[in-house]
Amino acid sequence: MSFVVTGATGQLGRLIVTHLLSRGIAPADIVAAGRNSGKVDALQSLGVRTAVIDYSDPATLAAAFDGADTLMLVSGSDVGGRVEQHRNAIDAAKTAGISRIAYTSAPRADDTDLILAPEHKATEQYLRASGVPFTILRNNWYTENYASSLSQAAETGVYAASTGEGRVASASRDDFAEAAAVVLTTEGHEGKTYELGGDVAWTGSEFAATLGSVLGREVRFESLTPDAHTAALLAAGLDEGTAGFVVGLDANIATGALDSTSNDLSTLLGRPTTPAAATLATLQA
Ligand SMILES: NC(=O)c1ccc[n+]([C@@H]2O[C@H](COP(=O)([O-])OP(=O)(O)OC[C@H]3O[C@@H](n4cnc5c(N)ncnc54)[C@H](OP(=O)(O)O)[C@@H]3O)[C@@H](O)[C@H]2O)c1
Repeated sequence: MSFVVTGATGQLGRLIVTHLLSRGIAPADIVAAGRNSGKVDALQSLGVRTAVIDYSDPATLAAAFDGADTLMLVSGSDVGGRVEQHRNAIDAAKTAGISRIAYTSAPRADDTDLILAPEHKATEQYLRASGVPFTILRNNWYTENYASSLSQAAETGVYAASTGEGRVASASRDDFAEAAAVVLTTEGHEGKTYELGGDVAWTGSEFAATLGSVLGREVRFESLTPDAHTAALLAAGLDEGTAGFVVGLDANIATGALDSTSNDLSTLLGRPTTPAAATLATLQA
């Protein structure tokens, strides 16, 4: 069984490669693929085969996927251009005779207001229609997304967001990566769509308390209106587009887009998910 992992130059993909290795997959049976050739070269230290690919360049995908059995398609980061890119990858996999594709998607991608979901929904639809056996990994938020909240809280004692009482079922990147490796290397996942998230879905005030416990200082939740949040982000130097994006995501969280009671992640891992406090502790300088 041989595997291609795209996005391997990124944080999640690299962890998926290391989990495949620790699950006993031979380095020669893994192609770690990424776009940046310098970062791809650095992956050679893992002993695996490597490939430079661009989702926008089908010839690079055909070369990298040739001879592989299973594709781990890590969603790209070119927001707005990903549907065509992901279609290219699915088409190339089908042409190469790949027998299973796992894809990293977004929570409830086909039934959510989450502003990031439409590209994932379109990719899922294309994948389902491709005829290639698939598994969809709908990853909730990485706890690591909150690294800047940790450093801000360390300075100010405040965690500010416009998420209201909304909950986030975050887990560590490593949890999501390990679950992906489990899916890639074990049977019974074909046609499945997993809603992957942490065992605990936390509110802003609960998260502030967690930040406080990690930092050893009091941290209070400042619950902002969307307008006040936008104004604060602009005052902090963010451009209008980025501020609008952040506030839009918080609005999604406020209405439950990242709330989840699924235990798919801990079930795949065979253990509880990593608590947010443990992940945040690793991010402290
Ligand atoms: N669940 C979450 O909280 C969350 C948060 C952020 C992102 N995501 C999604 O999850 C994915 C993985 O997360 P991550 O933290 O590992 O992100 P990351 O570190 O930014 O890695 C993104 C990976 O995608 C590759 N990539 C982007 N565009 C590409 C293209 N056109 N062709 C080929 N490769 C391309 C990058 O390659 P190079 O680095 O070599 O260019 C990199 O390996 C992201 O790409 C995004 O879709 C999820």
